[in-house]
Amino acid sequence: MDGVILGLETSCDETAAAVVTPELEVLSNVISSQVEVHAKYGGVVPELASRKHLENIMVVVQRALEEAGVSLEDVGCVAVTYGPGLVGALLVGVSAAKGLAYGLGVPLVGVNHLQGHIYSGFLADRPPDRWPLVCLVVSGGHTDLVLMEGHGRFRLLGSTRDDAAGEAFDKAARTLGLGYPGGPAIDALARRGDPGAVSFPRAYLEPGSLDFSFSGLKTAVLLYVREHPETPPEDVAAAFERAVVDVLVDKTFAAARRYGAGGVVLAGGVAANTGLREAFIARSEAEGLPLVIPALEYCTDNAAMIAACGWHRFRRGARDGLDLDAVPGLELEEGC
Ligand code: KG4
Ligand code: ZN
Repeated sequence: MDGVILGLETSCDETAAAVVTPELEVLSNVISSQVEVHAKYGGVVPELASRKHLENIMVVVQRALEEAGVSLEDVGCVAVTYGPGLVGALLVGVSAAKGLAYGLGVPLVGVNHLQGHIYSGFLADRPPDRWPLVCLVVSGGHTDLVLMEGHGRFRLLGSTRDDAAGEAFDKAARTLGLGYPGGPAIDALARRGDPGAVSFPRAYLEPGSLDFSFSGLKTAVLLYVREHPETPPEDVAAAFERAVVDVLVDKTFAAARRYGAGGVVLAGGVAANTGLREAFIARSEAEGLPLVIPALEYCTDNAAMIAACGWHRFRRGARDGLDLDAVPGLELEEGC
């Protein structure tokens, strides 16, 4: 393929476009966040998300091309998230990508958003270079532990049985009156708190299980705050964060040992969390296992990771037609 990869992402509440080279150098990574639109409702309103994507998508594409210093004629392939996510939101990106690919006469490649998060690790300065990898994808909707045995070869090892890690952060933030989105707010507050001030439960489930559960912790935080309104919120935030982080670190590195991993990748919006990043770095050093954590801008939803994943699909011969549809419930192992 000649040219650059144009990536589009509209699965939730960020309208994003990015231009990436076949060497996975990011030339631009434009993200238009809708956080302000949804904040007053305490969560993402799907209908509003679709409308905002529609207003913004071509503006964002134009800016991504400008910032990259390329024109539409330089685009060799269009990659777009087609699931999982909100159906109306996904459809905006998928339709725009089809129009662009058809108009430019270039290939279209659909990308699984969760695989996209994993590929954010390949945008790092030092991308992983030894298979297999154990990848933890922690976002607002997912907590997935994945064995990646090569490009496009994913095996789900464990996932959450109830709330996703990001959801737990958002709900704990609501309990503490911190507003939406809660993850960054808890992160900031937790830095000033004592994680040992409160002992919250850690759900390890059955011995050897690589699944997760966060709903018990969510309830424990709610009950604790009701019964102990005098405890400083920064201590509750720090103790809550530590309870989530302990389980995520322990299970990820247990999986890495069990499967003889050559490295670990931490990805998804919650990978932006300071405590989680620090704990992963400390454990990887203690175990002598290479770790890749993407830069902050590639942890939360973005289109550079979609372009990177799309490029690898393209290299393996994947092409999608104009019948590509949004698949809101797409599973992690689908669409390789
Ligand atoms: O990957 P992402 O941007 O969107 C989804 O695909 O869901 O993840 C969003 C989630 C939200 O739940 C948000 O609260 C959480 O990531 N998040 C964080 C932080 N930044 C974002 N959670 C904890 N600490 C953070 N710094
Ligand atoms: Zn995401």
